[in-house]
Amino acid sequence: MALSLDSHRPPILETERLRLEPLTADDAGDIFPLMADAEVMAFWDIGEVDDPDVIANIVEGQVAEMAEGRAFYWALRALADNAFLGTCDLSEIDRRHHRAEVGFMLGRGAWGQGFGLEAMQAVVAYAGANGLKRLMARTHLGNRRSDALLEKLGFEEEGALRGHVLRDGERRDCRVFGLLL
Ligand SMILES: CC(C)(COP(=O)(O)OP(=O)(O)OC[C@H]1O[C@@H](n2cnc3c(N)ncnc32)[C@H](O)[C@@H]1OP(=O)(O)O)[C@@H](O)C(=O)NCCC(=O)NCCS
Repeated sequence: MALSLDSHRPPILETERLRLEPLTADDAGDIFPLMADAEVMAFWDIGEVDDPDVIANIVEGQVAEMAEGRAFYWALRALADNAFLGTCDLSEIDRRHHRAEVGFMLGRGAWGQGFGLEAMQAVVAYAGANGLKRLMARTHLGNRRSDALLEKLGFEEEGALRGHVLRDGERRDCRVFGLLL
């Protein structure tokens, strides 16, 4: 199938319990408490952020990436009460090679309920239905929850990136996962 991620705006995706909506600059306020949480950010490339302006800049950058057709970012909300639960994304969209990278982040109160799996199953299905043939993910060594989520989605570990990330003055190793669609 030809790659049909033509739109520069992700669609709204609905699952049993979640609505995935295109991220907007207005979501920065909801994202702030997640990115200010050291536990949520423990295995992220950057440490926790305590400045709302920095978060607003990050989100603006993500919205700009979408406008350029390079990524899709979604805000995850509970269908039941519209509560903001987190974000997920397809980034590094490569139209030549029909591949992209996946990412996900939930607020701590939303962990352990299968929301990450439910959201990412919808994203993977969307990617496959729109012509992407390969998804990859990168986790920091020790990010057991993310590794488990990727494995539940069918990703396989493909390798290691030694000292890939400089975080808090130390180099961190990463694991690479891939899923062929
Ligand atoms: C990675 C992350 C999204 C995973 O969240 P999570 O809630 O642990 O993941 P899942 O959605 O897979 O939930 C699975 C857990 O919910 C439980 N669960 C409850 N109801 C469930 C349901 N209906 N369906 C599936 N699982 C359910 C499962 O038992 C499972 O727990 P277990 O793995 O201990 O057995 C979350 O930990 C996170 O946001 N981390 C910080 C950000 C981060 O590191 N992102 C990734 C960077 S690469």
